[in-house]
Amino acid sequence: MKIKNICCIGAGYVGGPTMAVIAQKCPEVNVTVVDINEQRISAWNDKDVENIPIYEPGLSEIVREARGRNLFFSTDVDSAIDQADMIFISVNTPTKTYGIGKGMAADLKYIELCARQIARVAKDDKIVVEKSTLPVRTAQALKNILDHTGNGVNFQILSNPEFLAEGTAIDDLLYPDRVLIGGDIDSDEGKEAVNALVDVYAHWVEKDHILTTNVWSSELSKLTANAFLAQRVSSINAMSELCEKTGADVNEVAKAVGMDTRIGSKFLKSSVGFGGSCFQKDILNLVYISKSMGLNEVADYWEQVIIMNDHQKRRFAANMVRTLFNTVSGKKIALLGWAFKKDTNDTRESAAIYVADYLLNEQAEIVVYDPKVKTEQIYADLDYLNTRSSEENRKRVTVVNSPYEASRDSHAVAVLTEWDEFLKLDWQKIHESMLKPAFLFDGRRLLDRKTKEDIGFEFYAVGS
Ligand code: NAD
Ligand code: UGA
Repeated sequence: MKIKNICCIGAGYVGGPTMAVIAQKCPEVNVTVVDINEQRISAWNDKDVENIPIYEPGLSEIVREARGRNLFFSTDVDSAIDQADMIFISVNTPTKTYGIGKGMAADLKYIELCARQIARVAKDDKIVVEKSTLPVRTAQALKNILDHTGNGVNFQILSNPEFLAEGTAIDDLLYPDRVLIGGDIDSDEGKEAVNALVDVYAHWVEKDHILTTNVWSSELSKLTANAFLAQRVSSINAMSELCEKTGADVNEVAKAVGMDTRIGSKFLKSSVGFGGSCFQKDILNLVYISKSMGLNEVADYWEQVIIMNDHQKRRFAANMVRTLFNTVSGKKIALLGWAFKKDTNDTRESAAIYVADYLLNEQAEIVVYDPKVKTEQIYADLDYLNTRSSEENRKRVTVVNSPYEASRDSHAVAVLTEWDEFLKLDWQKIHESMLKPAFLFDGRRLLDRKTKEDIGFEFYAVGS
């Protein structure tokens, strides 16, 4: 079976880049990405590709090449579903904020709405692909909805979790470590559906990098991968606190342990804490699933990864206050970086939000500079916490366009995102414009201690 028309529901950080790459690599397949968010779709269709809603290195070039040829963005969800042979569901699956499982379970309402819409619209057989990250056994719920349409349409459900990381999405999509496809491999129809999706990826991914499994293994592998990755960051961050107390340096420790090929060197960079829309959400989801199956030890084990991460963010902010003579009240503090990591404009769960909130509770005046994040987003992130009124947030937090403006007359500068441009700043000039003693806090182990101390900074870095 050859796929000719693909529809992707959800034009977000995953749907947009993933479909752009599929369209680029499969010019004979029409790919339509749909979303209910009109603003987002009109940004994807903006004449100037630099205005597409997601910043990812290399993405705008691919959109320029494929958009209008075989890549389309639309709000007409029904038509795209109707025309597609294969439908990816790539909608958000946030942590529930109400009812049973509040604060832990994944909220599957958007997924269910998609399934119901597909059930209502589809007139011929479709392959439905779970691209969103979902609790294990969600495919069963989708199947229950899709198998009760009464109109004789057959659906095959596949799980094809996405492993891209933001900031490197295009490279991750072009050269994936593996592509994972779960399906009903015990039936001929299931195998045919799996093979149809394998053929899509085989346009650019070597066959031995495309893994096929049963649906449940695929769903659970995605949660497992994120839990393992986040666990490494929490492990090294736990060591960073011990390093600060003992004179060891966390970068040296990470290098020494990472050279053991059994451990490996990636994801051992100590930081102010991991952020991003997924690590916390997916681990909480894993904890919830484990608890609901009575696996309390399993749940507690993974929950500790989150507890450690919260501690790291709080500890960083508390150390700033302590160092600034136990008070930041009325003091101007510059935060360099707001995105949860470099090379993305995504701020979801960014450590910077929590550090800022902590410092605001201590009555600091905050000035933020980030090269890619919009001012309204910074205020929206703070407002979302509901710690204080939005007027208060606007009064006490200023967003500026230059790191030099942010630092001027400040008591302290904190680097919270590892943007490359912070390496190249004129730190001498920044030091001169600050109040003395000038404190510099490196939450990313980005800056060189010696040169900063030579300039005259009081320098503090995570894990040393
Ligand atoms: P996102 O919030 O950026 O995008 C989701 C989009 O879906 C939104 O634009 C929303 O308007 C749209 N949507 C929701 N319900 C809809 C409906 N019924 N019809 C049409 N559109 C609808 O989310 P994202 O970051 O792209 O994440 C999507 C999924 O992929 C999540 O499950 C996430 O865990 C997973 N994931 C994310 C990443 C990442 O790096 N962001 C990586 C791997 C996996
Ligand atoms: C992560 C995974 O890496 C992806 O494989 C996965 O697809 C994705 O989650 C998802 O499911 O959403 P992402 O959150 O985009 O990707 O970015 P990461 O590079 O994993 O970074 C996450 C956070 O951990 C960032 O705040 C980053 O700064 C922090 N981090 C990462 C560290 O503090 N130290 C490290 O060594 C690595």
